[in-house]
Formats: sequence, structure tokens, C-alpha cells
Amino acid sequence: MLADRISKNARHLRKWGKRQGFSCLRLYDHDIPEYPLSVDDYEGHFLVTLSAGAAFEPEMLQGLDYAELVVKERGASKESELRPERAFLVQEGGMKFEVNLHGYQDTGLFLDHRLGRQWVKEQSRNAEVLNLFCYTGSFSVAAVLGGARCVTSVDLSHTYLDWAGRNFAHNGLPMRPHLFVQDDILQWLPLALDAEQSYDLIICDPPTFSNSKRMKQTFDLQRLHLAMLRGLQGLVRPGGRLFFSCNDRGFRLDEALQFEEITARTRSEDFRRRGGHRSWLWSNPAGTR
Ligand SMILES: C[S@@+](CC[C@H](N)C(=O)[O-])C[C@H]1O[C@@H](n2cnc3c(N)ncnc32)[C@H](O)[C@@H]1O
Repeated sequence: MLADRISKNARHLRKWGKRQGFSCLRLYDHDIPEYPLSVDDYEGHFLVTLSAGAAFEPEMLQGLDYAELVVKERGASKESELRPERAFLVQEGGMKFEVNLHGYQDTGLFLDHRLGRQWVKEQSRNAEVLNLFCYTGSFSVAAVLGGARCVTSVDLSHTYLDWAGRNFAHNGLPMRPHLFVQDDILQWLPLALDAEQSYDLIICDPPTFSNSKRMKQTFDLQRLHLAMLRGLQGLVRPGGRLFFSCNDRGFRLDEALQFEEITARTRSEDFRRRGGHRSWLWSNPAGTR
């Protein structure tokens, strides 16, 4: 039953992906309650992620061709098994991204944000862009390829900022005049406000929760989002925009923010069955961009 479902999804999604220029797809996402797992296809490299109670047999992928199969348990971090040599490149709407299914908890490319990346690409002409929680810089690459004048990418992790730099190189993009900043966003934001920095487009796609020795306080999105987003509104130029998204199904955006929800525009076909991220936009009304 599972093999049939995955094959059927694959036929439908690959047709859709081909039309849109997307070759990395989520083929299965907990569709059948008895099989709580997801199957992602990164151009023939398959990642199967098992939720609690799930079991996997290769027969479940019967009828599908793949060059590599990696099976992981959700939430299990395998930093000790890092395999940098297993990284490979994938394409997405004219962009190239480095992906690694081994060791890291995430692959380097969140597939559910592909329409958001396309949107950012379309909106970035001549813009000064800020990408917070930039991870491997996929939104930053989209912004530069879309014609951004300068993109500032901020993340706590040197490992991911290096990865972002490699993604720039894979796309033939110069590092200058773009900026890569290693900092805790909660520490960085008040300094940016004091320095009266401002941007035409801000991308804020944070984790739900994070904790690290390098952070002064735990990052809890639900608790902190109102203050953080209020602060970010202060960095948006007249006529500029703030794009915010969140993957936590339980997240509730504070109504005081009056952001416009744009999830229907950014959540693509293969992430609609289970519900994926939600996204919002705020435009600084002080301008007429
Ligand atoms: C879920 S990913 C963000 C996804 C990313 N926006 C994208 O486009 O794919 C989480 C990232 O947030 C970073 N991070 C977590 N807490 C942070 C903090 N307080 N300050 C800066 N970066 C943080 C992590 O290092 C990681 O790269």
C-alpha cells in the first residue's frame, strides 16, 4: 500500500516539478497514518526520515529508481558521522545548492521553502537584503541572483556560514559586497537598530527553538517573536518589506503585528498534504515602492 502511494505521488509530483523547474521533491509525507515517515527525492538521492514508531523496508520504494538511499530517525543528530565528501549539488529554478544527506540533522536545503526562494528572487532587484537565520544561504543566493545590490546573511553557526559561502561559489556569485555575519540574532538586532541600519527586504525564517553555548538566552520563537519582529520592523526602509515564516504547526502569530498571511503563495504542492510552513509579509506603509 505504501509503495503504491509513493509511486502515485511521485508520478504526479514529478509532472508538477518538471513544469515548475523543481527536481527535488517530497514524495511522501506521513500520508498514511500507519506509516509515519517522509521520503524526499534530491535528484535521485533519497532521504527517508522516520518519525517515532515507523519502520522502513527498501520494498516500500519499489518501482522508484534512486542512486542513493539514506534512512534517518527524526530528531536524531549524527554529528559524529559527518561525511563532507558525500555532499552533492542540486538545481532549483536556475539556482544550485549543496546538499548532504549524511551526518547533519538537516540536508542544507529546506525543500518546502522553494516558492519562497523564487519569490525572494523576483523581489530583490536593486534591493538591499537582510537574511536572518540564514543557515546555508539559500534565500541569500536567490536574492543575489534576483539582482540584490547587497545581501547580509546572519547566522550563529560558522559551519553554516561557510556552507552559505560555498553556495555563493556554486552559483558563480562574488562574496563582495555581500556580508556574512556570525552572531546571535538576539544580540545583533539591538546593535543594528542602534546603528540605524535599514533594508529594502528582510527575510526572517527562524527555527522554532534553539539553544547553544554561544547564545546568551535560549531562542523560543513563540515567546520571542513579537519583540523580535517589532525590532525588525524598525530596520525596514519606507516601502520595504519583511518576510517571516515559521514551521511550527502550533505557532500563533501575535495579532498585534497585523501581518498579511501569504502561505498559499509559498507552500508548494508536495507540502500541502500534511501542512508545512506558514508565511507572512509586512510592508512598511511609509513608502510607495
Ligand atoms: C531552521 S534553520 C533556518 C532555515 C533557513 N532560514 C533557510 O533558509 O533554510 C535554523 C538556523 O538558525 C540558526 N540559528 C538558530 N538560533 C540562532 C540565533 N539565536 N541567532 C542566529 N542564528 C540562529 C541555526 O544556526 C541554523 O542555521
